[in-house]
Amino acid sequence: MSDSRQLLEGKVALVTGASQGIGRACALALAEAGAKVALGARNLEKVQEAAAEAERNGWLALPLRLDVADAESVKATVDAVMQAWQKIDILVNNAGITRDNLLMRMKPEDWEEVLQTNLKGAYHCIRAVLPFMVRARYGKIINIVSVVAQAGNPGQANYIASKAGLIGLTKAVAAEVASRNITVNAVSPGFIETAMTEKLPQAVKEKILSMVPLGRMGKDREVAYAVRFLASDEAAYITGHCLNVNGGMYMA
Ligand SMILES: NC(=O)c1ccc[n+]([C@@H]2O[C@H](COP(=O)([O-])OP(=O)(O)OC[C@H]3O[C@@H](n4cnc5c(N)ncnc54)[C@H](OP(=O)(O)O)[C@@H]3O)[C@@H](O)[C@H]2O)c1
Repeated sequence: MSDSRQLLEGKVALVTGASQGIGRACALALAEAGAKVALGARNLEKVQEAAAEAERNGWLALPLRLDVADAESVKATVDAVMQAWQKIDILVNNAGITRDNLLMRMKPEDWEEVLQTNLKGAYHCIRAVLPFMVRARYGKIINIVSVVAQAGNPGQANYIASKAGLIGLTKAVAAEVASRNITVNAVSPGFIETAMTEKLPQAVKEKILSMVPLGRMGKDREVAYAVRFLASDEAAYITGHCLNVNGGMYMA
């Protein structure tokens, strides 16, 4: 078993949606394990704060303004990481949004925005980093999906379609790039304490919690540890997998 502080020594990672919550926790966990980490999100100030926390610990972090829904912004971000560190070993597609409503009331723009960010955003990012990973014959791509993509949930058709699509994308790309020593996996969080779940009504939170055998919400760092494992060579023989971090909420 490797020391987690050296697990990713010499590696370069890009984490999307790293300004807060799970993405921020992933960036810090990867940096703690020795990786140089580029953090991207639309709110540059918050990304800079997250990067400053990494730097206070003596880790290398690069804050970047990134909108995953915009292919040009993704390209500029990947170029900036390549310019700074000449490679990208790890990509964590974490950026995600919700626009919940019952399907019959869901506006086309809410459908579009969620699919554009959660699914097309990951496509943009994977497409932008793959040429460098293929050339290096090395890469780890981790897509953050969701338990609701596996179990279903009313009021989240756009979100679930995007995350179920991302599970499919994970498997398709895993099969395409395995021969280049690139692994592609998904991490599927359950009910995690972040801004995304904070905004849910108390009654909804209690109902969800009653479905969690471990009896509590997860922590962002508990998702980050699973991501860190899949980003490491300890997971070298795992690809096309969806790893649940859900307290037993959905078992498959
Ligand atoms: N919390 C949970 O219980 C839970 C459960 C299952 C799955 N997840 C998934 O885990 C991921 C992180 O969720 P979270 O709970 O940490 O959510 P969060 O606190 O709302 O954070 C979402 C992050 O995504 C970024 N983001 C949103 N749109 C973006 C865009 N177009 N380009 C770049 N960055 C963008 C946000 O930053 P900016 O607004 O600054 O861009 C923020 O950093 C999401 O994919 C979510 O679907 C969460």
